[in-house]
Amino acid sequence: MSRSDAAAVAPASTDLFEPVQLGPYRLANRIVMAPLTRSRADDDGVPGALQATYYAQRASAGLIISEATNISAQAKGYIRTPGIWTEQQVLGWKLTTSAVHAKGGRIFLQLWHVGRISHSDLQPGNTLPVAPSAVRAEGVQAYTGSGFKALETPRALEPGEIPGIVDDYAHGAKLAMDAGFDGVEIHAANGYLPQQFLSDKTNKRTDRYGGSIENRIRLVVEIVEAVTRVWPANKVGIRLSPLTAFGDIGDSDPEPLYLALVEQLNIYGLAYIHVVEGDTGGEREPAGGFDLQKLRRAFNGLYIANNGYDLELARKARAENLADLICFGRPFISNPDLVERLRSGAPLQALDPATLYSGEQRGYTDYPALAHA
Ligand code: PHB
Repeated sequence: MSRSDAAAVAPASTDLFEPVQLGPYRLANRIVMAPLTRSRADDDGVPGALQATYYAQRASAGLIISEATNISAQAKGYIRTPGIWTEQQVLGWKLTTSAVHAKGGRIFLQLWHVGRISHSDLQPGNTLPVAPSAVRAEGVQAYTGSGFKALETPRALEPGEIPGIVDDYAHGAKLAMDAGFDGVEIHAANGYLPQQFLSDKTNKRTDRYGGSIENRIRLVVEIVEAVTRVWPANKVGIRLSPLTAFGDIGDSDPEPLYLALVEQLNIYGLAYIHVVEGDTGGEREPAGGFDLQKLRRAFNGLYIANNGYDLELARKARAENLADLICFGRPFISNPDLVERLRSGAPLQALDPATLYSGEQRGYTDYPALAHA
């Protein structure tokens, strides 16, 4: 083969850019836009036209998962994050869902409760944040209206409060439907409330929500049950991060815990598990981990892989059948047309970290797409 022949050979084929079925939806490709906190909602957690523009610019993703969205005032842990518990928030989100649908995209809303990763400055009545147990997250700061503050020791939830939290998930799921989303993702990752219940580092309860694996997975199973009473299960996914240390979370033996959880998820028939592989935004294979392919094999639905993927790793994951869809986070911030750039081999634009959470239009909707002739 001559050098020019070799140069003409197309790269090994991949189905990353081919349609894929997810629940009832024929997605345009296997590339998912990750949930990304961008902190541009108003003080009432209402998104508006700016968010609609941002998400519509990224609608060529096979699936968009919205930024994490608070299901109640208590669920909030960061200023300017959006909510899904009021009618104004529903009206605001409708701008986004109709703009994404007008571009042929699909978007799920991510249901969020931060638990202990909050601050009394951000809580209703300036009360302490809630958690399974009064265990403080070390080395984590809250971003409040008056800057960064150390987290406080949270208040342990009373058993009688837990049904109310489960109801808040169901209510958020219902309002997400009213707002025109195509489905919902339960955020059970990254050290927020559901993972605080799952993990023995943070769950010291002695009631039916703590102790054994069966007890620690109970809240997440109840949330799944409540959300799948609102939505058909094939429009519901869940995000998990079994190996992360994000938010000072951790479990002494994650493998049996997550295998037991996935076994329960199978009973409900969820569309997918979305797995942050390794430490969130960090090491993909941290010490003390386990083979996450075991979760994939144990789960009956699709597996969306996330954490540090680039094109090469994504192609490899598909070639070796390690994941069904690949989720990209930060590259989508600075490349609204990420799918086309990956497909064509065009260079990726760099992200400006200073504007990630700035609350402004700059660094949000002004990253250009490739020019077309
Ligand atoms: C964040 O706002 O920093 C954040 C939110 C949700 C996550 C991770 C990080 O899952």
